Amino acid sequence: MSVNTVLHNAKIFTEGRIVKGGVAIEEGKIIRVAKKAHLPSASNEINLHGYLLLPGLIDIHVHLRDQLQTYEEDFFTGTAAAVAGGITSVLDMPNNEPVTMDCVSLRKRIEEAKCSTVANVGFYSAFPRNEDEITSVINDGAVAFKLFLNTQIGGLDIKNDDALFRAFNKVSELGAPVAVHAEDQEAVETAAELEQRLGHKDIEAYLKAHKPEVEAKAVERILRIARKTNVQIHLCHISSKQALALINGVRKRGLMVSCEITPHHLLLTDEDLKRQGTMLLTNPPVRNKNIMNELWDAVGRGQIDVIASDHAPHLVSEKTADSAWNVKPGIPGLETLLPLLLTKVNEGRLTIANLVKLTAERPAEIFRLHNEGFLKEGCNANLTVVDMKRREKIKSHEFYSKAKYSPFDGWSVKGMPIKTFVNGQLVMDEGEVVAKPGAGRIIRSG
Ligand code: DOR
Ligand code: ZN
Ligand code: ZN
Repeated sequence: MSVNTVLHNAKIFTEGRIVKGGVAIEEGKIIRVAKKAHLPSASNEINLHGYLLLPGLIDIHVHLRDQLQTYEEDFFTGTAAAVAGGITSVLDMPNNEPVTMDCVSLRKRIEEAKCSTVANVGFYSAFPRNEDEITSVINDGAVAFKLFLNTQIGGLDIKNDDALFRAFNKVSELGAPVAVHAEDQEAVETAAELEQRLGHKDIEAYLKAHKPEVEAKAVERILRIARKTNVQIHLCHISSKQALALINGVRKRGLMVSCEITPHHLLLTDEDLKRQGTMLLTNPPVRNKNIMNELWDAVGRGQIDVIASDHAPHLVSEKTADSAWNVKPGIPGLETLLPLLLTKVNEGRLTIANLVKLTAERPAEIFRLHNEGFLKEGCNANLTVVDMKRREKIKSHEFYSKAKYSPFDGWSVKGMPIKTFVNGQLVMDEGEVVAKPGAGRIIRSG
């Protein structure tokens, strides 16, 4: 028997442990994980020289932009950034121009992405104006709904608990998750208006409007409504102890709830934000050192399901202004997530098994991405090869992303992705993206 590709001589992370051997790939699927003697021959044999082979990372929180925002990022540059960073699949957020929020906008976005990506891409949709369209948005290929509680994106009135309840009821029947940006709009706006009336426009004022309490308020509200409907909730970029306590409380009572954290909330503090200024502004903002340590403790206790980048590219000119209120929040993160986390593995703060769980296994489980997230026979051949010993400096001017800046610029990392395979095809080799647009496919749930 002869197959398409065999990857030889790897340390393979499979079924929770590391084994020496190789992987046979046929038509984009892993058909065997075995020692060399038990692998078929192949037209394409690649020696991995003992490097670690992981299931491809799934980044469930990415803003790919494109359409009317190609000046910030497009489907090719965004997915090239993903595979350069060892990420094989991404889920795209809906706050685009035009907003992804119904069948027409979703179909159009999928159509435009289809032949343009080098990573696999799944799509979130915002809620449609018409509740009756919720089912068809999922049938048309949305992986989940995204609900922003800080500002209305899409057709659902975020101030109206009854409307949220009805929408959640519909989604729960479909078995799809609702991902939530939890910052309470009214609380943020009241505090922001007060600061602005006082003429405050610096980072300190911005932080006063985006306190941990506004996150907790939104989490409390959304979990209260969700509990009445049994809908599956995923909380994005959690950044406070209070929110974590609320999530753990309902988890114990059986609600399907998961949460995510970003590398910037784990590795940067308000001190970095004050030093670096508005270029590092995000929503929610990075927190103080105590909170950062509490978030690490939560990772250690297994209370965080996912680490995701919240890759949110903007122009440098959109990131700088003399008032923090006029700056676009968000930073690129696709090309730094894995090197930063591998560095933490090398430092003993995280195990490889935890890293894989947080960036591949749980993402696949939460969003029902069939045959993704695991390196085993029958799964899709989305794979990341890492060199745990390679030392590099983060160089944001070399990013594939159009957003060529990073709060981690110049940081020393140890551990780098060196090859990425998407659907069995080598798409990144030694940091260089070697695939043409179209190598990625559109992901659906189930
Ligand atoms: O920092 C952020 N950037 N937070 C968001 O909620 C939106 C995102 C973006 O789209 O730029
Ligand atoms: Zn968000
Ligand atoms: Zn986001």
